[in-house]
Amino acid sequence: MKILGIETSCDETAAAVVENGTKIISNVVASSMTLHQKTGGIIPEVAAREQVRYIIPVIKEALLPATKIDALAVVVGPGLIGSLLVGVETAKTLAYLWRKPLIPINHLQAHLYANWLAPEKMEPEFPTLGLVVSGGHTELVLLKNHRQIKWLGGTRDDAAGECFDKCSRLLNLGYPGGPAIAAEAAKFKVQSSKVKLPRPMINKDDFDFSFSGLKTAVLNKVNQFKTKKQFTHSIIKQLAYEIQEAITDVLVEKTLRASQKYQVKSILLAGGVAANTRLREKMFSKLSILHSKLYIPAPRLCTDNAAYVASCAYFNFLPKPWQKIQANPSLEIEEMIK
Ligand code: KG4
Ligand code: ZN
Repeated sequence: MKILGIETSCDETAAAVVENGTKIISNVVASSMTLHQKTGGIIPEVAAREQVRYIIPVIKEALLPATKIDALAVVVGPGLIGSLLVGVETAKTLAYLWRKPLIPINHLQAHLYANWLAPEKMEPEFPTLGLVVSGGHTELVLLKNHRQIKWLGGTRDDAAGECFDKCSRLLNLGYPGGPAIAAEAAKFKVQSSKVKLPRPMINKDDFDFSFSGLKTAVLNKVNQFKTKKQFTHSIIKQLAYEIQEAITDVLVEKTLRASQKYQVKSILLAGGVAANTRLREKMFSKLSILHSKLYIPAPRLCTDNAAYVASCAYFNFLPKPWQKIQANPSLEIEEMIK
C-alpha cells in the first residue's frame, strides 16, 4: 500500500510517498528557514504564507515517482494553526477529488515512525519507549503497541529544541539553534571549561523536564561575562558546549531511567533534537547498560518531513470522512489513538 503523507505543522511544507510504512518512494521538504533566519525565529504568518505557495509544487514533486497512491495522510496537530490549515485543507480537497481514504495524523506520534523507515529496515519491538524531542515538545511515552500510547512525562515549560533555539539567540549564533550550538560546541576543547550550568530536574524521580531555568542561567552567565567584558568567542564556545551537555545529560538520564522502570524491548528517539550528534553518542554509549534495543533515525528523518507521517498512517490505518477532519493546534500525543 502506498500512502501520500502531507505535513505543514510548523515552517516546513512536506509531502512524501511511503510503501507499506517502511519504504520511502519520495520525500520532499520545502522550508522557509532562510526567511526565519532573518528574523531569528518563526513568524507564524510568514510560515503559513510560504506554505500556501509551496504546497502544490511539493505534492506534485512527491507524486512524480509513484505510480498510484492508495490513501492520503495529513498532520492535523499539534502545530501552528495557519500552517496546519494549509496541509489539512489541501489533503481534504485531494481526498475528495481522488476518492481516496484520508487518515488524520498526530505530529508527535508520527515523529516516532521515522524509526520504521527504510533504508535502515528496522522493526522496533513493543513495548517501546519513545522520546520525542522537537522545537515545541519534549515527551516521554510508552507504547504497548501501535494503538496504545501512555504519556509518562514531558516538559513543564520550554521544550529541548526551544531551549537550544533560545540559548542560541542569547549567544548570537542564529536560527535554528540546535545545529548552531552543536557546531559551536564542536569547536571547544573540553579540558578547560570556565562555565558550569545546571541539569534541571535530573535527579527528580519522575519523567518531567524543565528547560526554562537553564535558559535563564545562560542569560545570567552571558550578562556576567558581558559586564566583565569577557563575552569572547572562547566563552561563547564554552557556553555552547555546556548548554549541549546540560540538555543531553537530562534527556539521556530520564530516558534510561524510564526504560529500566518499564522494562521496554526498544527505545525510540525522534524529533529534530534527535539529530543532535552528542545526544546520539551519549545514548549509544549507554548501550551496554541498556536492556533494550536503541533506535535513532537518520538525522534527515528526525527533523520535520512527511515520510514518517505516511508511515504512521500505514501502521495506524484509521481513515475518517474528510468532513470530520479538522486542524487542532493543541492536540496531545495520546489523543488520536481512540
Ligand atoms: O522536529 P522538528 O524539525 O520541528 C518541530 O516539530 O519542532 O524540530 C526542530 C527543532 C529545533 O528546535 C531545532 O533547533 C532542533 O530541532 N534541532 C536540533 C538539531 N537539529 C534540529 N537540536 C540539536 N541538535 C541538532 N543537530
Ligand atoms: Zn516536528
